[in-house]
Amino acid sequence: MTSSASSSPLWIFGYGSLIWRADFAFVEQRPAYIRDFSRRFWQGSSDHRGMPGAPGRVVTLIEDLEACCAGMAYRIDPKLTSTVLAGLDHREQGGYDQLQLPIHFSPTEVVTGLTYYANPRNSSFLGEAPVDSIARQIVDSTGPSGPNSEYVLELDSALREINRVLAQDTDSHVAAIATAVRQLLSTAIP
Ligand code: SIN
Repeated sequence: MTSSASSSPLWIFGYGSLIWRADFAFVEQRPAYIRDFSRRFWQGSSDHRGMPGAPGRVVTLIEDLEACCAGMAYRIDPKLTSTVLAGLDHREQGGYDQLQLPIHFSPTEVVTGLTYYANPRNSSFLGEAPVDSIARQIVDSTGPSGPNSEYVLELDSALREINRVLAQDTDSHVAAIATAVRQLLSTAIP
């Protein structure tokens, strides 16, 4: 994990919990997207949405030429860059590294920023599984940050609004898992 500080404004791109739980200081937030990555529930979480030995599932980015992944971009006050990055490095320590990349607000408005990316070589990576198995694991998982199902449902709802603003299709992977999670929750025996 690396930290970087700079005197120019830093943009951070969130595509998972950073969309709907931005617990850091920012001066501006804007719906945005990145190219050539898909969002997938392929990263294990033992520190936020699961426990050691019983990980939940959270999203990471998978390289996918021509794909487009919508999220939220945050502009950070240059005076607070080090503080914000230190907090995010700590929050995202379960397998995520910083990745610099272009962040698009529209086809013609692009800034360089950073995101947190869990590459498939990290020890918490779980990888692909059928939608039903991912949903089952999520419904059965909870961790210090709360139920894994909350993560999915908050993300699905935030993405629907972002994609509406960006006039893009909703994320079909997240939507399919959210539908399966809702189904399992509605049939769960109390
Ligand atoms: C992000 O939100 O951008 C990183 C993944 C996560 O914390 O859910």
